Amino acid sequence: CGIVGYVGAKQAQDVVIEGLRRLEYRGYDSAGVALAHEGSVVWDKRAGKLANLEGAIATQPLPEATTGIGHTRWATHGAPNDANAHPHLGQQGRLAVVHNGIIENFAALRTELEKAGHALKSETDTEIAAHLLELEVEAGHDLTTAMQRVCQRLEGAFTLVALDGADPSRVVAARRNSPLVVGLGEGENFLGSDVAAFISHTREALELGQDQIVTITADGVEVIGFDGTPAQGQQYHVDWDLTAAEKDGHDWFMRKEIFEQPASVADSLLGRRDESGRLQLDEMRLDDSELRDIDKIIIIAAGTSFYAGMVAKYAIEHWTRISVEVELASEFRYRDPILTQSTLVVAISQSGETADTLQAIRHARLQRSKVLAICNTNGSTIPRESDGVIYTHAGPEIGVASTKGYVTQLVACYLLALYLAQVKGTLFGDEINAVVDQLDEMPGHIQTVLGQADQVYDFARSHVDTRSVLFLGRHAGYPVALEGALKLKELAYIHAEGFAAGELKHGPIALIEEGLPVFCIVPPRGRDQLHDKMLSGIQEVRARGAHTICLAEADDTTIEPYADALIRLPKVPVLLQPLVAVIPLQLFACELATAMGHDVDQPRNLAKSVTVE
Ligand code: G6P
Repeated sequence: CGIVGYVGAKQAQDVVIEGLRRLEYRGYDSAGVALAHEGSVVWDKRAGKLANLEGAIATQPLPEATTGIGHTRWATHGAPNDANAHPHLGQQGRLAVVHNGIIENFAALRTELEKAGHALKSETDTEIAAHLLELEVEAGHDLTTAMQRVCQRLEGAFTLVALDGADPSRVVAARRNSPLVVGLGEGENFLGSDVAAFISHTREALELGQDQIVTITADGVEVIGFDGTPAQGQQYHVDWDLTAAEKDGHDWFMRKEIFEQPASVADSLLGRRDESGRLQLDEMRLDDSELRDIDKIIIIAAGTSFYAGMVAKYAIEHWTRISVEVELASEFRYRDPILTQSTLVVAISQSGETADTLQAIRHARLQRSKVLAICNTNGSTIPRESDGVIYTHAGPEIGVASTKGYVTQLVACYLLALYLAQVKGTLFGDEINAVVDQLDEMPGHIQTVLGQADQVYDFARSHVDTRSVLFLGRHAGYPVALEGALKLKELAYIHAEGFAAGELKHGPIALIEEGLPVFCIVPPRGRDQLHDKMLSGIQEVRARGAHTICLAEADDTTIEPYADALIRLPKVPVLLQPLVAVIPLQLFACELATAMGHDVDQPRNLAKSVTVE
């Protein structure tokens, strides 16, 4: 969910709606706004995308006010209808609350309130918090104290933001395991789920810790712990500007982000070698002696980040000889994994807020394993709770389907693998340098692949009636096949599956029928037999009627007789091939979904950052 709060001199309605527009990628099942006006709360909320709320407000504007809160929802408790949209109000309508997360003991609290005669209008856990808070302010507590008292009763993970109609001087928020940042302005202050909420007003931000309450007024920000003890947030400067959060002439953020990938990869590689040419990872925070002792690595992640992790396994094992497991974050801690002090857990998360991943690293740290985050979001929770971090420098990723987030994660994984090889001495310095040089060429290679976008688009448009697509890969191309399939599921809502090409004959080949599109990621020709084995796989599916779309090296003529369509990839080593091979798959999914009339940036049922387990 996306959350916004504002106190200042501007029209709160405009500031809040603008903030919600920038946060809409976090959830778009419903949206709402509440303002403090003449001693009470005025509000509007609507099911569906933010545009519905904007339309409603355009025809029936809310009165002027300079204090407000807003919310854009990804539904957890209760269907995405008007009643369940946020804000939720207290019994007297004096107090409004927006919320992200889950209040786990909400059933018991609901029963308690109902017994006391409260009439609850929605099925949400949020409304409970609104009623409890209102009871506290009605009893004479100011909103900050009320929040503190209520938070002590709540279980679960949540960000709550509240507004008291009778006290327009402040907005109060609480945070436990769910994102919230403060934007520091002059004569105005902001709250947001992330900095995009207020980036057009200020680039100064304050990050908060867990179990903290923040009160913003026009002139100040005060942070306390849930127990009332004063606390201090950490101030930082946001190093990207507004243009990074706009579409810049593209129809979708996703398409813009696909085309930004050469720059994102270049930025992620910047400054990684010291004067003597040795790799350095600035915020690693783990010293070489600790890393030298590592005898096992477990990579944990969700969604696209998980597929980046699968590629990382190939690279790390090959270059360092350390054994690597890759595990879905949501499965990790529940299977009682074997973790020791010499296990390095690598958490990959674009947002740095994914609840499954966060809980997994907490589990790992409890077992005294070292945790390293690979993350794109400065100030987010996962890097803050890790022993070290490699930031990916993709800039803000708004499209729900990850693209530049993914390729920069791959870069960070390669750098990590090479750094470990440097520390462990499993590669010579010049071998490491040679790979980093190859990485430095990747922005140009990605640009070359992007140059074939029109061909891929034509191709996508001719597939609008397709109901199923398969993706085959081997070695590092296998996780790319999985990622290509995920992109299509997310955006085009069609059945798509990725397979290890060698596994095809053990079952999935039964799926092949006349005309089925099958993407084949062909490994570069090398000393191993990967390429030729892939070629056999392509022949097998084609013989059974598949329509083969092959991604192969520029001068690979062996593929031509078996490819119904051919997309050319630059010549790169097999381990690095995912960086170029994924590009056509992203373009294909983006264009197919566009041609099908889907909202590419906000696919149904999904959210960019899932902060519930
Ligand atoms: C959500 C998004 C996916 C993303 C996954 C992991 O499910 O819809 O696109 O890959 O979370 O996100 P993270 O921010 O942890 O990389």
